Amino acid sequence: MTGAAPLISLKGVTKRFGSLTVLHDIDIEIEAGSVVVLIGPSGSGKSTLIRCINGLVRPDEGALTVAGRAVDIHDEGAWQRLRTEIGMVFQDYALFPHLSVLRNMTLAPQRRRKLSRTEAEHEARKLLARVGLAHKAEDYPSALSGGQQQRIAIVRALAMAPMAILFDEPTSALDPETISGVLDVMRDLAREGTTMIVVTHEMGFAREVADRVVFMAEGRIVEQGPPGEFFANPRQERTRAFLANIRSFGEPAHA
Ligand SMILES: Nc1ncnc2c1ncn2[C@@H]1O[C@H](COP(=O)(O)OP(=O)(O)OP(=O)(O)O)[C@@H](O)[C@H]1O
Ligand SMILES: [Mg+2]
Repeated sequence: MTGAAPLISLKGVTKRFGSLTVLHDIDIEIEAGSVVVLIGPSGSGKSTLIRCINGLVRPDEGALTVAGRAVDIHDEGAWQRLRTEIGMVFQDYALFPHLSVLRNMTLAPQRRRKLSRTEAEHEARKLLARVGLAHKAEDYPSALSGGQQQRIAIVRALAMAPMAILFDEPTSALDPETISGVLDVMRDLAREGTTMIVVTHEMGFAREVADRVVFMAEGRIVEQGPPGEFFANPRQERTRAFLANIRSFGEPAHA
């Protein structure tokens, strides 16, 4: 992939909330088909950073390029387009509670991708089957377990045929037994070449699936590298302190 233009590129991205600067001049590039895992302490800006990639948060300064197209950060239309092109999976699933699983999955594809209802339902049922949930199509989210809801949230994102998917702590709200089912789905996506940016505390997943681990602290990227190197030889003291801390809390670091 050397020499290829990155799929997503952020340059000099700064975000302030009032007088608080939460992202300082962030530069990051995401290659097509790569999996980038973003880690860092609470409040370091991980959610804010990934939200800047699909316009849920608007940066104050900086440049964003997606698939070779410069996104004008002051143009509402550009952000709207980006929202349909880049999927997002949240910690709390964010399914529409008043809509069936099938409707959750067909709504945006019909409205945004202009698929017919029949096409959208056909695709949705295929995606549900893929995550073992075809039999839940007519159910409402409240009738499903957290792990099932999260798998549906993932295929709902996929139903938009996104160019990349952002995950914000997708397994943090789940019972330990249901985490692996969700990670399996994510691992499959990675294997198929889906471009993914994943905020997670699952260090086992990071080790196994990530092409690159990015460590943030206080709104800055402190260090990044391939997982083997990153976990074995963190160069920065701040990174070492963070890794030591999560290991001592029993995270599955598989060191
Ligand atoms: N909408 C907002 N208004 C004001 N401050 C905000 C807003 N969103 C985030 N912040 C602040 O920005 C900083 C970074 O928050 P962010 O949610 O990006 O951190 P995070 O790394 O995702 O943390 P966590 O691991 O707890 O999810 C924090 O200080 C937070 O309080
Ligand atoms: Mg967060």
